Amino acid sequence: MEITPSILTADFARLGETLEEAVEAGINWIHMDVMDGNWVVNRTITFGPALIRSVRDRLGPEVTIDCHLMITNAEDTWKQYADAGVDIVIAHIEAVDDFPALITEMHQAGIGVGCVLNPDTPADEVMPLLSELDLVLVMSVVPGKGGQSFMPEVEDKVRAFRAAIDAQESAGGRKVKLMIDGGIKDHNAAMVAEWGIDIAVVGSGLINDRGSIAENLTAINEALE
Ligand code: DX5
Ligand code: ZN
Repeated sequence: MEITPSILTADFARLGETLEEAVEAGINWIHMDVMDGNWVVNRTITFGPALIRSVRDRLGPEVTIDCHLMITNAEDTWKQYADAGVDIVIAHIEAVDDFPALITEMHQAGIGVGCVLNPDTPADEVMPLLSELDLVLVMSVVPGKGGQSFMPEVEDKVRAFRAAIDAQESAGGRKVKLMIDGGIKDHNAAMVAEWGIDIAVVGSGLINDRGSIAENLTAINEALE
């Protein structure tokens, strides 16, 4: 299972150094959490395309960057994130009226498409899109901030996506990455890997006061062995 950092607990004044530290520690995928002060329940604002552009320019083309859009108007503004150098735009199923149309537009623009669902949204709302998606993201916290507790009740949903993705791939269909986001730490990483997760977003478990990113990543990877 691959680990990708969420930067919400980083010191934004030294974000470049922090991300370079992550890349030196072996990270090659960065997860950028975009909140617009509207969509998430706690009305947080994080950052937008300008900061993502700076991160892309600083890290170069080798690192994969996804952006997790927790915003009201992803359908109107996703192109700004694509233009900022993001590889995969992940939009919430709950926030988009016509998801199939969004997928078509994004693929026409050559951008990867992810669909994310909240802990209380059933898998069935996303399953019909699976044949066109590049990534499914299962939220294991209510989106809005880093450092929240993991919600183990998403297990059945993760396993349902794993089974559907495997069935699709073995029938010659599209390969879809399965990602989880929220509350992942060294103590539960192996569990979600066993559920079938390909990529785990780790925020406060990776960027914290307890250890360097390299030390924290080593602890997670040891737990995965
Ligand atoms: C929550 C964000 C997550 C979160 C992860 O709204 O989408 O990416 O910041 O942080 P941790 O790992 O601290 O839960
Ligand atoms: Zn996220």
